[in-house]
Amino acid sequence: MSSEEMDFLYHGLLLPRETHSVESLKFADEFTFKDDDVVAATYPKTGTIWMQEILPLVLSGGDLTPIQTIPNWDRVPWLEEKRLAVVVDKLTSPRAMVTHFPYHLMPPSFHASKAKVIYVMRNPKDVMVSSYYFHQMAGFLKDPGTFDEFMDTFLEGKVLFGKWTDHVKSWRHTELGDRILYITYEEMVQDLPAALRTMSDFLGRNLSEEVIQKIAEHCSFKAMKVNTMSNFNLVPKVLMDSDKSPFLRKGVVGDWRNHFNPEQLAKFTSVIRKELENESFSLPWSL
Ligand code: A3P
Repeated sequence: MSSEEMDFLYHGLLLPRETHSVESLKFADEFTFKDDDVVAATYPKTGTIWMQEILPLVLSGGDLTPIQTIPNWDRVPWLEEKRLAVVVDKLTSPRAMVTHFPYHLMPPSFHASKAKVIYVMRNPKDVMVSSYYFHQMAGFLKDPGTFDEFMDTFLEGKVLFGKWTDHVKSWRHTELGDRILYITYEEMVQDLPAALRTMSDFLGRNLSEEVIQKIAEHCSFKAMKVNTMSNFNLVPKVLMDSDKSPFLRKGVVGDWRNHFNPEQLAKFTSVIRKELENESFSLPWSL
């Protein structure tokens, strides 16, 4: 497939054909949400796969069966991807899903429902680094070029799901009230049990400390890296080549320091700051 045919535009957002289609987007748009559905909304490379591990465990009170027997993409499917139509009838309530959609692309039935959302945000510098390696290992994405070139591509939003700033802005301006919880990747790395407590309280689960610790253990980077149901090693190498870069790559905060030179940092920060300058919310980290 030529690089031009690898992706297509949907409401101005770049989506890969390997995982998305006109039909899958229609399916998402016509999807019927239930009141007890839970959605983790993320910009790509923010820890989506982490939420695919966390949500079933929190919702079930620590039952390990789903994370040990069902691949992450079928266990907690993407709303907008092809697999949802295949597995939807097998999902048991309360259903958990993930989405990279910005808020304005969420389907009508989502708004009419009481489904809850956890919006995860990650420092965009680390998002960009993670995305750079992902573009190298994912055979269905364009070669990212040099780090410098990829920075321009990223800042211009010519990457999956568009600009990071647009995504964050869209989910910060919702009328969801107490239906949405904002959490950061950094908080999760710093104190996973605390983040799990916050999420389980939000989802109305009263989990014991023992269960929280058990979930934290199974959702650690180390545990997920060797879980074949979660590390994407089941995917053919032509699509995801972990020899080039594993999907669960480093799982740390601040890897951007190993990649950005001072000029790149200045450029990156100035673009992101400018795009957020009139926003009422503040970022939880300095850029
Ligand atoms: P890195 O490439 O920086 O390691 P997504 O699932 O949205 O594509 O995000 C992938 C990023 O989340 C990768 O970042 C991956 O390592 C990280 N991640 C996934 N599970 C994690 C965990 N349990 N702990 C820390 N980071 C995790």
